[in-house]
Amino acid sequence: MGENVPALLLKKIRNRSARVGVIGLGYVGLPLAVEFAKRGYPTVGIDLDPVRVRSLRGGRSYIPDVPQGEIARLIRQKRFTATTDYAALRRLDAVMICVPTPLRKTREPDISCIVAASEALARHLHRYQVIILESTTYPGTTEEVILPMLQKRGLKVGADFFLGFSPERIDPGNPEYKTSSIPKVVSGVTPACRRVIQLLYGQVIQRVVPVSSTRVAEMVKLLENTFRSVNIGLVNELALMCHRMGVDVWEVIDAAKSKPFGFMPFYPGPGLGGHCIPIDPLYLSWKAKVHGFEPRFIELSSQVNASMPEYVVQRVIHALNAQGQALKGSRILVLGVAYKRDVSDVRESPALEIIQHLQKGGALVRYHDPFVPRLHLDGYRHRSLPLTRANLAKAHCVVIVTDHRSVDYPLVLRHARQILDTRNVLQKRLRKVIRL
Ligand SMILES: NC(=O)c1ccc[n+]([C@@H]2O[C@H](COP(=O)([O-])OP(=O)(O)OC[C@H]3O[C@@H](n4cnc5c(N)ncnc54)[C@H](O)[C@@H]3O)[C@@H](O)[C@H]2O)c1
Repeated sequence: MGENVPALLLKKIRNRSARVGVIGLGYVGLPLAVEFAKRGYPTVGIDLDPVRVRSLRGGRSYIPDVPQGEIARLIRQKRFTATTDYAALRRLDAVMICVPTPLRKTREPDISCIVAASEALARHLHRYQVIILESTTYPGTTEEVILPMLQKRGLKVGADFFLGFSPERIDPGNPEYKTSSIPKVVSGVTPACRRVIQLLYGQVIQRVVPVSSTRVAEMVKLLENTFRSVNIGLVNELALMCHRMGVDVWEVIDAAKSKPFGFMPFYPGPGLGGHCIPIDPLYLSWKAKVHGFEPRFIELSSQVNASMPEYVVQRVIHALNAQGQALKGSRILVLGVAYKRDVSDVRESPALEIIQHLQKGGALVRYHDPFVPRLHLDGYRHRSLPLTRANLAKAHCVVIVTDHRSVDYPLVLRHARQILDTRNVLQKRLRKVIRL
C-alpha cells in the first residue's frame, strides 16, 4: 500500500470496523448501504427525506430489490442506522454519495444535489476520511466540483483525505445481478485515493476494476448508458422502417441474433424511461459541447427514442380506425406504466406521455400495473384497474407498454378486442395483435 494511506485506516477497512456512510438512500444508495452493513461495517444512511428515514428506522424497505426482512434485521442488530442529520458525517471513515442527478427544464445537467451533499461533507470533513461519488455525472465533476469544495479547509487530497469516483451499475428488478456481483469500476483523484477505494470496495464487491482517473471512471458510465441509448435508438428507427416496408422487425432481430459474434440484440419499444438511459447521455453531450465538440449520435438517438411514445399513439389511432372507432370517446387500457418490467419506478416512463397524448385526443384511459397501485399525473388520477375479463373486453384497445412478467397474458389475449403489443411479449401474429 502507498505511504500516503495511514495504516490504521487500512486496518479498519480490512477488519470491517471502518464506519461507512451513504448519502442518498434511493435505488442506488440503499442497496449499497445494506451491502456494507451485511458485511459487518457499521453503516449510516443519510437522506434528506424524513419519510424514507422514518420508514427505514421502522425496519421497512421502500426499494423492491431490498427485502423488508433485511432492513428490519440490520436495524435491530444496530448494524445499519438512518438519519436526516449530516452531523453523522463527522464520525464516518468512508462516505459514498448516491444522490440524484436529473436534468433542468433546459435539458442541462442539474448537479445541485451533488453540490449540496459536498457542502455538507466539506463542513464535516476530517483527516483520513474517504469520499466516493457514485452518482452518474459528466466527466470532470469529481475533480472540478467536489475536490475544490473539500480542499477549502486546507486538507490535502491523497494525504489528508481520499476522494474518488465509482459508477453505480445496479439494474433494478434484475434478479441475476446484485450489488455485490456486478463488477465495479473504481478510481481516485490520486494513486493513494484509488488504492484505498479499491481496497474498500474489494471487501464487498466480487470484482473491482481500477482505472487511472476519475474522468475515465465518469466516462465509463456514460459510455455504457450512451451505448444503450444509441442502440435502442437504432433499433427503434429500424422498427419504424420495417413497419413502412412490411417487414417483421422482431423476426429480423431474432434471426440476426443467431450470429455468434459481432451482433448483440436490442429491441424496439414505446420509448425510454427511468432515471438513467434518457438522461445520462445528455450529461455527456452537454460536457462535450462545453469543450466545443458537437456529439451527433447522442442527439440523434435521443430524438428517435423521444419520438416513440407519439408513434405508439399514432399506431393506436390506426388500430381504432380499423374498428371504425375514433380516438375521441374510445376506451383504452394501458398495460404497464413502470418504465421497465418488474419495477415500480415510473420516472420518465413512456407510458406517462402515451397516457397524456391519448387523453388529450379525447380517449378515456385506464391502466393496469401490478407494481404501481396509483398513478397521479396532471389531470390523471387513477388506481390500477384489476385485470379482469370484463375490464379487458370493455377497452377498444389494450396497449402493452411494460412487459411485467406476472401479468396473465393468456387472459389478455383471450378477452381483449384489440392489442397493441409494443414489447412483443405475446409473440403472436394474430389479427387482433398489432406489433411495433
Ligand atoms: N436507479 C438506477 O437504476 C441507477 C443506476 C445506476 C446509477 N444511478 C445513478 O445513481 C444516482 C442516484 O439515483 P437513484 O435512482 O438512487 O435516485 P433516487 O431518487 O432513488 O434516490 C436518491 C435519494 O437521494 C436523496 N437525496 C437527494 N438529495 C440529497 C442530499 N442533498 N442529501 C441527502 N440525500 C439526498 C433523495 O431523498 C433520495 O432518497 C443518480 O445519479 C443516478 O443517475 C441510478
